[in-house]
Amino acid sequence: MIDLTGKVAVITGGAAGIGQATARKMTALGASVVIADVDMASADALVDELTAAGSAAAAVRADILVESDIEAMLAFAVDRFGGLDILHNNAGIPRTIAPDSEVALMDATNWRRTLDGHLTSAMLGCKYAIPHMITRGGGSIVNTSSSSAIAATMDLAAYSSAKAGLHALTREVAVTYGRDNIRCNAVVPGAVLTARGRATLPPDIFRLFAEETPLPRLSMPEDIADAVVFLASEASRMITGQALVVDGGMQSKLPYWLPKMKATRGDRFDETTFAFPED
Ligand SMILES: NC(=O)c1ccc[n+]([C@@H]2O[C@H](COP(=O)([O-])OP(=O)(O)OC[C@H]3O[C@@H](n4cnc5c(N)ncnc54)[C@H](O)[C@@H]3O)[C@@H](O)[C@H]2O)c1
Repeated sequence: MIDLTGKVAVITGGAAGIGQATARKMTALGASVVIADVDMASADALVDELTAAGSAAAAVRADILVESDIEAMLAFAVDRFGGLDILHNNAGIPRTIAPDSEVALMDATNWRRTLDGHLTSAMLGCKYAIPHMITRGGGSIVNTSSSSAIAATMDLAAYSSAKAGLHALTREVAVTYGRDNIRCNAVVPGAVLTARGRATLPPDIFRLFAEETPLPRLSMPEDIADAVVFLASEASRMITGQALVVDGGMQSKLPYWLPKMKATRGDRFDETTFAFPED
């Protein structure tokens, strides 16, 4: 049983999606949680929900593109709850802010902005969290990566590169600060069915994700949050520098091999056993 009683956590992008699910799980397990986000209406609504349930939670406006915001959000957590044990570097900037593309069509400004919003932001989170964690005697940092860090996406070259860099950052922090009792790991989601994803992605894409997922349903934010909680907690106390893939098995198969296999064992994608978004 994971217990986060007495722990203080900061979650960037904590007002929606994976960050929101993580905030709910961490507070349910006893942690005090700071929701750091740019969407203060959603952050405040979540804090109201969590405090009404008897949990300790607070919201702070922090834009992960602004270094002073990152420094201030961590100082806020220490000031409000007495220290810092967990940082979930989760927020990433949306592609509406920094459109992505294949390399031959890449706009260098968007490339830099994407790296700022998915990699530099996490580095700065670590930079300002580490001194607080050393004061506390240790801590755990969990970075939200993506399966794009492991396999090419073609039209998301900047995002993939930024997330791959996040894995190197994760190892750097883990090895450099291990003797300070600070762990650093990454969680690597595949396709996650968030509210934003439902609102913005074409419905057909979910069928494609479904067909490519060996387990019989799509990943939900709560599935990723459980892995984040595990990596943040004492349950993973000897795990550091790792990237934990949470994707229902998407990355574990050879796509070009499947049609051959289907010929011998039949198409095992069965709509009657697969949970689609509307279910
Ligand atoms: N959803 C997926 O399928 C998926 C898959 C792989 C990886 N990821 C990664 O998971 C992380 C969270 O994604 P999600 O799908 O839960 O997102 P989401 O859109 O559901 O929520 C993101 C939150 O981040 C906040 N945010 C946006 N820009 C910000 C900024 N500049 N500063 C602070 N907060 C900001 C938003 O207001 C929102 O509350 C991202 O790093 C993303 O790359 C998501």
